[in-house]
Amino acid sequence: MGAMEETVQNVLKQLYDLDHAVQVSRPEPAFGDYATNVALQIAKQVGKAPRDVAQEVAEALRQTGEFSEVSIAGPGFINVRVAPAKLISRLNEVWTDRYGSSEDGAGKTVVVEYPSPNMAKPYSVGHLRPGNQGWAARRLMEETGWRVITDNHLGDYGAPLGIWITGFLRFSSDSLLAEKGVYELGRVYIAMKKALKEEAASGAHELADEVQSWLLRFESGDAEAMAYSQRFNEISLRHIHEVMGRLKIATDYELGEAFFAPQGKAAVQKLLQTGVAIQNEDGSVIVPLEEFGFDVPLLVQKSNGAALYATTDLATILYRENEWHPDRVIYAVGAEQQFYFSQLFAMAKKLGIKTELIHLWFGAIDQLNEDGLRERMSSRKGVVLMEDLLNQAEAKAQSVVEGREVAEDDVKRIALGAVKFSDFTADRRTNILFDWDSIFALTGFSGPYVQYAAVRVNKILQEHGTGTMLVQDYDYAAEKAVVAKLIEYPEVVRVAARDLEPHKVASYLYELAREMNRYYEATPVATGGVDETQKQARLGVLAKVSHVFTHGLSILGIEVPTAM
Ligand code: ARG
Repeated sequence: MGAMEETVQNVLKQLYDLDHAVQVSRPEPAFGDYATNVALQIAKQVGKAPRDVAQEVAEALRQTGEFSEVSIAGPGFINVRVAPAKLISRLNEVWTDRYGSSEDGAGKTVVVEYPSPNMAKPYSVGHLRPGNQGWAARRLMEETGWRVITDNHLGDYGAPLGIWITGFLRFSSDSLLAEKGVYELGRVYIAMKKALKEEAASGAHELADEVQSWLLRFESGDAEAMAYSQRFNEISLRHIHEVMGRLKIATDYELGEAFFAPQGKAAVQKLLQTGVAIQNEDGSVIVPLEEFGFDVPLLVQKSNGAALYATTDLATILYRENEWHPDRVIYAVGAEQQFYFSQLFAMAKKLGIKTELIHLWFGAIDQLNEDGLRERMSSRKGVVLMEDLLNQAEAKAQSVVEGREVAEDDVKRIALGAVKFSDFTADRRTNILFDWDSIFALTGFSGPYVQYAAVRVNKILQEHGTGTMLVQDYDYAAEKAVVAKLIEYPEVVRVAARDLEPHKVASYLYELAREMNRYYEATPVATGGVDETQKQARLGVLAKVSHVFTHGLSILGIEVPTAM
């Protein structure tokens, strides 16, 4: 809570003429509402025993009249209690229609890149986290006032095209493709990968040559190759958009690798001219990065002149600089590409690019196998298809609301709420365990749990109105914990945005939901003997809770159902 910190800071200034950054924590409720160990921190500086400093600070805090109780514990911890009326008037002071939003990033531009799936295959769960985390990063930047540009960096370039064409001609047909669409492309791709592997093992290279020749034909603008590429891309892109539509994520731009490949090659030529890059004897081009601590240089062009992943990324960086002049670029991509991005960013530095480039990485999705052991979700049983996962999630959501009047759209919201929220139940850097029962647990740290709490609040507000923000002759004693929680919210968003850690918003929402459930157990809101003053005051608090649920969930890409 910003205000408590400020009050303590003022007191330190007044007592010791000291500018000290004060941290406040939430102690066990038995001790107080807020606590600080600042006396221990500054005792040396002040030249007094911690206990004496604590006495002096505590006395000065009492004098401010902001606290209903100030006490000292242990060697010099200060605990305070705040009068509920103080809390509600503080909330009233800071409340706005955009409560939780700030202007910290005003005037700054950020490019956020997600989910960047690959064209060659059906959308898999491999691109679930890039979408969830990228979307949350986007929302956090938006809510803190940045100008946000989003870009879907499609993996639509390189070997897959050669593999597709060759595979299509050998293993597929027009009618199969028409019927199965991207799933047929996926099947062909897998079959070809296998065939190529077997061929390589046998020492032959006929198939590999064919793949290569289609690629070269495409690069030289051959009409037949271009037509295949266009046809496959259309099928693939339609599928990607369908899935992104179901996930309710979208981007402003979709500039994929293919768009950047030609520019990348031109950029590599420039790097050679300026001496930033070096051409090997075989024709390949590297950028040495020793001065950045990398023994391995970054390969930016193949020996045959073809563009690589890094070539297109080089062009992407230059393009964004020229077009958008961002202060920051965020790449939502899994942990496995950490080394690659650290090299890429080092190259950007070498080129004199000052933009803050952030690899927003995250762990894998695990699941439990039949033996109850954790394993990567996509292992063993083959790739898990995003559409299958969403279908299953919707079926689960349907069973959660069984017997109740819940619209189709709400079922979908619950399904997405469960799937997405699970992405934010731990720090993004850890692997997450995807387990159907816990992601739908109506009593646990889950999306549906928070959604249910939000729906419940909204229902009461719908029936009884939205009350009054600040009722003068009401004490707000019963609402104290909820109001204290509400006051924390803007700081939670600010910190989550600063650290790009949306899981902090998820934890907060869960705590708020729990606080609400505790509240209902003890306090009737609008019926059961409440008088009009109590009712208006309580509804007023609930309206603020409703705002925060909707706002917070929207940061995670989750909607509040109308019923569940
Ligand atoms: N398509 C890539 C993948 O699925 C992710 C692209 C990440 N973005 C980038 N600029 N390299 O692995």
